[in-house]
Amino acid sequence: MTTTQYIDANRDRFLDELFTLLRIPSVSTTTEHDDDTHQCAVHVQEYLVRAGLDKAALYPTDGHPIVYAEKIIDEKLPTILVYGHYDVQPADPLDEWNSDPFEPVIKKTDLHPDGAIFGRGTTDDKGQMFLHVKAVEAMIQTDNLPCNVKFMIEGEEEIGSAHLEPFIRKHKEMLKSDVILVSDTSLLSKKVPSITVGLRGLAYMDVSVQTARADMHSGLFGGAVANPINTLAKMIASLKDDDNKITIPGFYDDVHFPSDRDRKMMRNAPFDEQEYMDSPGVYGLEGREGFHTYERTGILPTLDCNGIWGGFMGEGSKTIIPAKASAKISMRLVSTQDWHKIADQFTEHFKSLAPEYAKVTVTAHHGGNPYVTPTDTVEYRAAAAAMKDSFGVEPVPMYEGGSIPIIAKFKEILEVETILMGFGFDTDGLHSPNEHFGLWNFYKGIETVPGFYKHYVAMKQA
Ligand code: BES
Ligand code: MN
Ligand code: MN
Repeated sequence: MTTTQYIDANRDRFLDELFTLLRIPSVSTTTEHDDDTHQCAVHVQEYLVRAGLDKAALYPTDGHPIVYAEKIIDEKLPTILVYGHYDVQPADPLDEWNSDPFEPVIKKTDLHPDGAIFGRGTTDDKGQMFLHVKAVEAMIQTDNLPCNVKFMIEGEEEIGSAHLEPFIRKHKEMLKSDVILVSDTSLLSKKVPSITVGLRGLAYMDVSVQTARADMHSGLFGGAVANPINTLAKMIASLKDDDNKITIPGFYDDVHFPSDRDRKMMRNAPFDEQEYMDSPGVYGLEGREGFHTYERTGILPTLDCNGIWGGFMGEGSKTIIPAKASAKISMRLVSTQDWHKIADQFTEHFKSLAPEYAKVTVTAHHGGNPYVTPTDTVEYRAAAAAMKDSFGVEPVPMYEGGSIPIIAKFKEILEVETILMGFGFDTDGLHSPNEHFGLWNFYKGIETVPGFYKHYVAMKQA
């Protein structure tokens, strides 16, 4: 039996199994779901066993467990390490969902006329992670696995992968591989495939401005004291100029743009502005002048306030000058920007913006460095060849806006490059209500992955 025949014969079962994973609310951020998250890891482990992998095991951490499995057919052959995550973002706001986030249903949409699975984690990342399990199962069960394969599936990607870094440091030998393969990013469209060659980094900061010991009467003190909410708002506003350029000194020092050829390919890639706007229902677009939307999200860094609070926020009114105001501010980083350096630059600059009597606190929440995949490698060429076989056209190298901070650590610690071969769409509602993953995308992924193995082994041995 060929791999393709095996996939065709088992399509329905693959989907049933994915549904089982999707029914488990493995929300990593809430302790309330710790048992579910653990159960999800156990299921992933079982599926890896049933796919034919060896040494499938759960590695406990101080957080959620890491699932590892491998199939070594010949030490002399190359080894592919598949990384993905089984944890998901919280489903709320629940009333925005048209169906239960943890009871997957198939519905047709304009972009998914063959149907898409709706549920939390469908595209990010259970559906995309699971397609690798099924592709490898198809290769193993038909005796067509051309090289060694290892799986490392974690349960804390959505909360910063804190326990994965010590794990990879400790298990360098076990994780020894020639390339890391990940499906946790986006595909341009059904007709125009893409390979993600850039992921942004992240520096996430907590800030607060305090100007008094306690809240005070706004009639007795208003006009004579600073209001920390106004002060904080002004400080935040000054972090960007009229063209949305970030004003922190040195912020752009390590920003290098990709080649003109790559930028041109990206600008010419299909982009439906209306579709892009419609998926979250955004009322208008705004960003740096002279840059395409793909460039604004892919090759430029950002600074955004993710939340801001202070003073009276209850029902009714309360006439006070608050004592304190706070915000969460995150920066997406690109190119060779280093998140620790950026966090330091931010801290120094932000403190300098406040009146000297104000107490300003700035703490780094978490972060990670950007990652750029080199394209002049056997790994990238094999991925491009697999995409071309499967889609009929050459893939576009895309710089994407999202972050997977551990990828830069893979390079630093394991010294291995990563191929980001995503099969979901940007418009699939990742982290949003009604997240979904196309059936077409799921099966296309399963069918494309074996091509990567085949081309990679052939090119490595040539
Ligand atoms: N899979 C996403 C990242 C992604 C999605 C990259 C689409 C490119 C295209 C990942 O699960 C994610 O959400 N990452 C977080 C990282 C954070 C929690 C440290 C992000 O980007 O906000
Ligand atoms: Mn993800
Ligand atoms: Mn995510």
